[in-house]
Formats: sequence, C-alpha cells, structure tokens
Amino acid sequence: MRVRIRAPRPADEPMYAEAVRRSAEHIGRWNPVEPDGLPDLLDRQGVGLRTFLIEDLETGGLVGKCNVANIVMGRFRNGALGYDSYLPFAGTGRMTEGMRLVIDRCFADPADGGIGLHRLEINVQPDNDRSIALARRLGFRHEGFTPRMLFLDGAWRDHERFALTAEEWTPLIPE
Ligand SMILES: CC(C)(COP(=O)(O)OP(=O)(O)OC[C@H]1O[C@@H](n2cnc3c(N)ncnc32)[C@H](O)[C@@H]1OP(=O)(O)O)[C@@H](O)C(=O)NCCC(=O)NCCS
Repeated sequence: MRVRIRAPRPADEPMYAEAVRRSAEHIGRWNPVEPDGLPDLLDRQGVGLRTFLIEDLETGGLVGKCNVANIVMGRFRNGALGYDSYLPFAGTGRMTEGMRLVIDRCFADPADGGIGLHRLEINVQPDNDRSIALARRLGFRHEGFTPRMLFLDGAWRDHERFALTAEEWTPLIPE
C-alpha cells in the first residue's frame, strides 16, 4: 500500500483547497468543484455521512477523497460512495488502493473500528469511463440504470448503478 486513509480535520482546509483547485479541470466534468467545501463537509459528518481522505504515505500529499454518503443502518446497512482523485496522484493507482481501504473500513465490524455496512453502491454517469473502470476494478457489480438520478451541472443526470455486498469482499489483512 502506498496510501492511508483518515478522517478529515479543520487543519486540512488549506491542503484540501489547494488539491481541489489544482484538480478542477480533472474533477469538473463529473463532480462539483468546491475548494472551500471542507468546513461544510466537516459540519455534516455523522451517522449518515463519513468522509475519508486518502493520503500518500511517502509525501503526505492528498491523493483523493471518498464520501460514504446516505448511510442507512437497521435492516439496510447501506452506503453510497462518492469520490474524486487529485493531481498529481490521479491515474497512478493510488486512488484504487485508498478506495480498497475505505471499502474495508465500511464493511468492518464497528467493534474493530469499522462502520458495519452490508452493501455499498456507486452511481456513475454512463460516459464516466474512469469511474466505471474504478468501480469494476474494486469488484462492484453492475446492477442497473437509474434515469435522472442526480442534479449535476445544471441538469438531472442518468446514472449506472454498481453495488458490492460484504459477502463479495475479502477483508484486507493488516500489514
Ligand atoms: C474516477 C476517479 C476517482 C478515478 O481515479 P483514478 O485517479 O483514475 O484512480 P487510480 O489512480 O487508481 O488510477 C487507476 C488508473 O491508473 C493506472 N495506473 C497507473 N499506475 C498504476 C499502478 N501502479 N497501479 C495501479 N494502477 C495504475 C491504471 O491502469 C488505471 O488506469 P485505467 O483506469 O485507465 O485502467 C478520477 O478519475 C476522478 O477523480 N474523476 C473525476 C471525478 C469523478 O468522476 N468522480 C466519480 C464520480 S462517480
């Protein structure tokens, strides 16, 4: 592993803003670009939303961010993953490594520091090839097509829905 994951904190704001600004073009076609969005994200952390920053172990640089959103416990134990990778780390495989750590944390038992989810989904616009490649690389199954699912960049956008359940995940062995 070349990365680690951790919760964001207020001291990350400058590093976060810089990484998002630097990556605006890379992110912007698919997700909102909000360099100053970390304080709001920190405010919204709770039972329904957990954010993880993915950090490069060697340099401490910010590789990416993953939100585990729409978390519902009870009989569903489900969450939706939303993510961005940042330059200069995009396309180096580090985001994939970080996402594996996030998924592992999502499925792990709360007694072991996990969230205790049973199912994760990833919703991707049909022509977002890099995100679809990432979902498939992580082992997500294509479940279906959801028309007009999310309001992004001024319109309701169709999404392809991918999912993974805990039974399909081999827990990572801690190093
Ligand atoms: C979707 C997104 C998060 C994918 O992240 P990424 O940076 O491509 O992910 P990785 O760094 O793990 O890159 C994997 C790629 O690097 C390549 N790679 C290079 N060196 C590698 C290495 N040492 N190990 C593994 N893969 C490596 C892989 O071949 C792979 O390329 P491919 O997808 O063309 O096959 C990113 O493109 C992004 O932020 N997009 C904009 C926002 C977005 O679309 N978010 C998701 C909305 S649903």
